[in-house]
Amino acid sequence: MPAAPTRTTVGIVGAGPAGLMLSHLLARADIDSVVVDNRTRAEIEATSRAGILEADNVRLLTGTGVSDRVLRDGVPHAGISLRFGGRSHRIDFEALVGEGVWLYPQTEVFVDLADARARDGADVRYGVSETQVVDLTGELPGILFTDADGRAREVRCDILVGADGSRGVCRSAVPEAARTHYFREYPYAWFGVLVEAPPSADELVYTHSERGFALISRRTDTVQRMYFQCDPGEDPADWPDERIWAELQARVSGTDGFALKEGPVVDRSVLPFRSFVCEPMRYGAMLLAGDAAHTVPPTGAKGLNLALADVRVLAEVVERAVTKRDLGLLDEYGPRALSRVWRTQHFSYWMTTMLHRAPGDTPFDVRRRIGELEGVVAPGAGSVRLAEGYTGTTAG
Ligand code: DHB
Repeated sequence: MPAAPTRTTVGIVGAGPAGLMLSHLLARADIDSVVVDNRTRAEIEATSRAGILEADNVRLLTGTGVSDRVLRDGVPHAGISLRFGGRSHRIDFEALVGEGVWLYPQTEVFVDLADARARDGADVRYGVSETQVVDLTGELPGILFTDADGRAREVRCDILVGADGSRGVCRSAVPEAARTHYFREYPYAWFGVLVEAPPSADELVYTHSERGFALISRRTDTVQRMYFQCDPGEDPADWPDERIWAELQARVSGTDGFALKEGPVVDRSVLPFRSFVCEPMRYGAMLLAGDAAHTVPPTGAKGLNLALADVRVLAEVVERAVTKRDLGLLDEYGPRALSRVWRTQHFSYWMTTMLHRAPGDTPFDVRRRIGELEGVVAPGAGSVRLAEGYTGTTAG
């Protein structure tokens, strides 16, 4: 026998940062929600994700009472280095746009949100299975699932939100004729490693070299995160530690003698890499947020920041629709969110194509790209544009 349906105002599929932040913001406006996720809390915590938070999103965490741990454990970064031609060029965000970013990995954002939702007694169901969304254009849309104890469950709501990531059930529940997909594939991917070594640089180093892109990021005093451009079909098993270090060192080497501090590689994987947008972001009473609606390539670390930007708009629009009892107001969400989505798509695409080598590059392409980089590191509009996009002070 299925249990009696749970009735709530907003049913949210996906307990990643987007789903939990939405549930948190709605609770502050006295709007109840239920959140379900196929993954257990431990599984979500074990996922490696990017590490950069825009200052606006730091303020969202601290200013809405999620947690101020980011101010203690996060590390403010006032700029980055762009490295090419064997030399580093600093882009000083603070000087250019008056604001930096924070190194605070997505996992920590999730932990803060999950703890805050638990502390506030929210209804968040992790580890469910067989999730389906139903009656999206009806009066009372629903989420059907099997809970972690194996019981069939049903949540009925006024508004349903799909925050269940790029391969979630929500977007695929929209009939194909009612959605348009825009995407761009790239002829490369990222090889990501976690290494046990001291930091090699104070700030992030985005490197363009003849061998391709490399990014030197950080985690702690003893563990670092690094990435390098690779073939999408690369098998991590073909990359022993020595080969990884030789490739990274070759990409960052230069006339200034910069070299990475090496140590054991404790995690290695090939990351998916594409640009994608699904429009519209609404179908009936269901709204899509974060990766359920769009994916950016990782260069510039915009995925989480864009998901949180969606949620800021979504919380405001849902609050108004619920207060005024007018679901027609939900129409405001997509166009408002999409203007930032496309500007950020452009920023991520720009950072990606400016810093990577593509297989069919002609000598013209190679030299043009160096010209572009020279223009960005020179004083003037190029560096301001990079700083604005990276910090999110404009959307890109
Ligand atoms: C990290 C990832 C990114 O894609 C990026 O642009 C910057 C930092 C990271 O994981 O630290």
